[in-house]
Amino acid sequence: MRPIIPDYLAEVLGDVESDTSGEPAGYIPELASADPERLGAAFAMVDGEVYGAGDIDVEFTIQSISKPFVYALALSDRGFDPVLAKVGVEPSGEAFNEISLESDTGRPLNPMINAGAITVHSLAGAEDLNPTERVDRVLHGLSAFAGRRLKTDQAVYASEMEHAHRNLAIAHMLRSHNVLTEDPGAVVDGYTRQCSALVTTRDLAMMAATLANRGVNPLSGEQVVPEAVVRQVLSVMFSCGMYDAAGDWATQVGIPAKSGVAGGLIGALPGQIGIATFSPRLDGHGNSVRGVSLFERFSSDMGLHVMEVPAAARAVVRSNHVVAGGPSALRVLQLQGGIGFAGAERVVQEAMAISPSEVRVALDLTRVHSIDDVARRVLLEIARRLTLNGHDVYLVDPESMMPDPDPGDGGRVTVVDNLDLADQRAATAAGGQGG
Ligand code: DON
Repeated sequence: MRPIIPDYLAEVLGDVESDTSGEPAGYIPELASADPERLGAAFAMVDGEVYGAGDIDVEFTIQSISKPFVYALALSDRGFDPVLAKVGVEPSGEAFNEISLESDTGRPLNPMINAGAITVHSLAGAEDLNPTERVDRVLHGLSAFAGRRLKTDQAVYASEMEHAHRNLAIAHMLRSHNVLTEDPGAVVDGYTRQCSALVTTRDLAMMAATLANRGVNPLSGEQVVPEAVVRQVLSVMFSCGMYDAAGDWATQVGIPAKSGVAGGLIGALPGQIGIATFSPRLDGHGNSVRGVSLFERFSSDMGLHVMEVPAAARAVVRSNHVVAGGPSALRVLQLQGGIGFAGAERVVQEAMAISPSEVRVALDLTRVHSIDDVARRVLLEIARRLTLNGHDVYLVDPESMMPDPDPGDGGRVTVVDNLDLADQRAATAAGGQGG
């Protein structure tokens, strides 16, 4: 069988190829000379499978796509509070290089605009690093996200530094507010080197998949940043990643994303996929024209919008029945699938309807494949309250979906591998009481 996904990607690339609107970034001379016809798209799945079509192994500079990843490094190196004290999380609705700071605090509004990203660069790694060590930390971290060692493009770096007046102005303003505490020139130099890291579309898809995969690179298995950091970064990408086009993007595409002026564009859909596209012609917001069209297509063709309401999950309570009769009767709530809060709430409703005369109750998890933390706590509370109401509670849990269940405070559960064992336990208990 021919592989389906690369064929789909090739077809969609073919559909956008004729759109030659927009221009490669002109303010960095070295970027202006990029081949505008380049076009590629790659999907990296959270299990490490990569699909691609077009120019997915051509290197280009990462530019602003580095921003969410370096934000992730700063959050994990310094902790949330010191970073949030210096850079906000509010969408600016302004261009990426706007010279704007919060009027009262002098903080940049968010880490995706240049003012925020320049500050964030200075927060990557330990406080006492010198500028060279800080760049090393940043490149090492970006490489961990990509799963291979990345280098910088010296020509693009030098070309941007010759024209970095606006970023230098922003950095000096940040220094005047004490948001930057280091030499503004050195920080802009480091930030520009960060933006000059060379990546391919394949790398970018893997970097995005690392975010989609809770911070674990799907190929190397390395936990690059903690899960809590990933949630913060994806949230900020969703609200601020596309600058003054963020609202249009959130409604029409609905994937946490980030663009770069070399023509790259990434999106990360939590738990599912990292997507990257490359096409150098940009629109007025500095986002790749064909990249935006490709993401619109991917989102609608594959239902990838994060606000897409999933099909109603199969009922968590597969059956609610009684086995055997008389004193050995056993009320069984047979559960199934993945259980989150809404599923656990269904179990609460069923449990509340159990008559006090039905002494023995089993929660059967044999067909359950996942239980999230809140659902686990609710199921344990059900067990505790049933115990306090005089029921004997059994947990049928052959796959240890709920290891070491402890309902606490007067609750008690007997864990068994199957319903027959629950019966035998009950018979033994009844025999013991009788003798
Ligand atoms: O700060 C700059 O101007 C660039 N090195 C990065 C800007 C960028 O990629 C904006 N994104 N679309």
